[in-house]
Amino acid sequence: MRKDVRILLVGEPKVGKTSLIMSLVSEEFPDVVPYRAEEITIPADVTPERVPTHIVDYSEAEQTDEQLFQEISKANVICIVYSVNNKKSIEKVTSHWIPLITENTDKDSRVPLILVGNKSDLVEHSSMETVLPIMNQFSEIETCVECSAKNLKNISELFYYAQKAVLHPTGPLYCPEKKD
Ligand code: GTP
Ligand code: MG
Repeated sequence: MRKDVRILLVGEPKVGKTSLIMSLVSEEFPDVVPYRAEEITIPADVTPERVPTHIVDYSEAEQTDEQLFQEISKANVICIVYSVNNKKSIEKVTSHWIPLITENTDKDSRVPLILVGNKSDLVEHSSMETVLPIMNQFSEIETCVECSAKNLKNISELFYYAQKAVLHPTGPLYCPEKKD
């Protein structure tokens, strides 16, 4: 059995990666956050799947590309965060983040990805229409979730999905090529 789960958050600057982590930990929205949250470990007994879970933040402002590549290769699951009110941050999911992750992970070890649309408090419309084609194109994407660090919507769900993607991967079910 797996002994722990390592979750990495990546995405464009200012989409709210650090705020998501801090909201999960403190159960309230932090008005001011550092660029990068300290790595946190959630003990097994308070995680839904009873496995110690490490949550790792990334910030371009504080880390080199080399450090990012290292973290990508160590991660068991990667959350690619975009902001639902920022089209550019969604475009970068496919133009930048997925290729970068593919280049830095072992071809044989499938690292599940989760698409995270943050700041849902700022829009009326869901970004799912934009994101569904991306999900269909990349079988590595386990699921997508819209959330808000600000009103704490779907925050614990997001980290639960990430944990579940590692412990109970369902990838092939979503892989269009493998549908009969
Ligand atoms: P970098 O570390 O620079 O890569 O940015 P980041 O992705 O960690 O974003 P950060 O958590 O620093 O948040 C950027 C800004 O967005 C801050 O002003 C946050 O208060 C704001 N923010 C984060 N999450 C939300 C949210 O869910 N809703 C709203 N309205 N604002 C948010
Ligand atoms: Mg940050």
